[in-house]
Amino acid sequence: MSKTITVLPGDGIGPEVTDSAVRVLDYLFKKFHHDVHFVKALIGGAAIDAEETPLPQKTIDQCKASDAVLLGAVGGPKWDRQSMTVRPEQGLLGIRKALELFANIRPAKTFAPLIDASPLKREYVTSVDFVIVRELTGGLYFGKPSERRGPHKEDVVDTLAYSRYEIERVVDKAFQMAEKRRKKLTSVDKANVLESSRMWREVVTEKAQDYPDVEVNHALVDSTAMQLIRNPSQFDVIVTENMFGDILSDEASVITGSLGMLPSASLRTDKLGLYEPVHGSAPDIAGQGKANPLATILSAAFLLRYSLDLDKEAELIETAVQRVLEQGYHTPDLQVNAAQTTSVNTAEMTDQVIAAIAAQIPEQV
Ligand code: IPM
Ligand code: MG
Repeated sequence: MSKTITVLPGDGIGPEVTDSAVRVLDYLFKKFHHDVHFVKALIGGAAIDAEETPLPQKTIDQCKASDAVLLGAVGGPKWDRQSMTVRPEQGLLGIRKALELFANIRPAKTFAPLIDASPLKREYVTSVDFVIVRELTGGLYFGKPSERRGPHKEDVVDTLAYSRYEIERVVDKAFQMAEKRRKKLTSVDKANVLESSRMWREVVTEKAQDYPDVEVNHALVDSTAMQLIRNPSQFDVIVTENMFGDILSDEASVITGSLGMLPSASLRTDKLGLYEPVHGSAPDIAGQGKANPLATILSAAFLLRYSLDLDKEAELIETAVQRVLEQGYHTPDLQVNAAQTTSVNTAEMTDQVIAAIAAQIPEQV
């Protein structure tokens, strides 16, 4: 049966990096005769320019009708200067909400050739391998809009609101991930101050009964920010509120050497998911062929694994990325440790990844 991937290139380097990932996916689909096709749709600043809204209804409809969504990045100075009422970021938040993508998976795993690029000492980062599960459709990002601005414009309110089921479903996802990994879950909150965090803790403690093999720790978000730098390899799965997860995942991204390497998956209960690099739209380097496509290519591997059940193909991509780095290929943002290093542009990096995938597939006779 034919499957559809909606591609939302967005702004800045978004179009370049999604083009790269689509080339890699297309190569694999042809090679293994999978009937998958791509449809593009508008989001972010590009959608504001064309349709005066960061998230046109037809983009939502198109995403809902597809099997997976691949997104580049949104935003840039062009739209920052406009009135604050319409912003590219609303497109991103809107599509997450419209598709009910409540669990955002952001891994931080060391790539051996990049270790020296980490701002932390080598011995702290060699065995880093953890996943942040960030709640994505509630919490501080989605307080009731009607309550946000007081009548006198002197009062402003952002509410951190959760319903119990919203916490339960993301915590369940995190426990399931922990079960398949090293069976360690750190639930991050601010229970010494916030009521919502106290309910979060309650839910985690209750859910822990269903996962007796998983060791659970509760930690405060400020202390976790410190522990991530002090001893990042202690973590396996971290589950947390939307805004806490946003902040901790940026912190986590530099530990492993480059923001340009980190993929993400935004999931819900069925197979439909949205896949995007953790990095932003990098408008300063857009259109120059300098963008590192690896985070988006690795996001495409997640897409294969979580939405299309193509685990073998996902692994081919992940191994290929590893090999390309070991061979010393790097975009300008990467500091790679190899006997010989070669600086490449976005398209050449993509060619190298495809070649490294091809090298793993035995010749057909
Ligand atoms: C992210 C980004 C977004 C977020 C912004 C662009 C709205 O920082 O995906 O982490 O805060 O969720
Ligand atoms: Mg962020």
